[in-house]
Amino acid sequence: METDWEARYQTNDMPWEKGEPSPGLVDFLAAHARLPRGTVLVPGCGTGHDVRAWAAAGFTVTGCDIAPSAIRLAQEKTAAAGLSAQFILGDFLTDDATGPYDWIFEHTLFCAIDPSRRNDYVSAVLGSLKAGGSYLAVNYLIPDTDGPPFGTTREELMDRFSPHFDLQSEWVPRSYPNRTGLELLMWWRRKAAR
Ligand SMILES: C[S@@+](CC[C@H](N)C(=O)[O-])C[C@H]1O[C@@H](n2cnc3c(N)ncnc32)[C@H](O)[C@@H]1O
Repeated sequence: METDWEARYQTNDMPWEKGEPSPGLVDFLAAHARLPRGTVLVPGCGTGHDVRAWAAAGFTVTGCDIAPSAIRLAQEKTAAAGLSAQFILGDFLTDDATGPYDWIFEHTLFCAIDPSRRNDYVSAVLGSLKAGGSYLAVNYLIPDTDGPPFGTTREELMDRFSPHFDLQSEWVPRSYPNRTGLELLMWWRRKAAR
């Protein structure tokens, strides 16, 4: 059954909501302070913690989410933080691509969608990212098949992304306590179109 994401926000059934950005993203931005600033898309942005981390680091950020309540909360929290970002209500898998962006940042969207939609997910990433752009993904390597969250493996990620991207680096990031050791951060660069 498809997840009703808006209902999850309305009933406060949001175990993913940690009140802070991905620790792995925070460390990545601190470790790469000299990256050229550019545009970033955060699909499935939720209440926008990761969007605000990118914005605070000086990037031009767009968050997208399918749930109106997520977008409203993200806008409110971003204004309260005195930061600037754009938020779009929409379905990342089917709506016309925005961008193209210099970066796409993935954090618990890939594991949130039904696994049968993963080809659509890869197409959406490709449709929104510049050639040479970066896809930075905090992957959740759990075995679960009764999600969301739905599990994946490093092997599946390599199969899906290596035809289109070169892997720059990968590492096990610092995580929220309940995800320690279960995340794999992968920094991919999109191959030039042939
Ligand atoms: C598990 S939550 C993660 C939220 C956020 N990334 C975080 O880590 O706090 C998944 C989010 O993706 C959104 N979402 C699910 N399917 C989507 C889709 N097809 N397009 C855009 N957003 C989607 C949900 O509304 C929800 O906010």
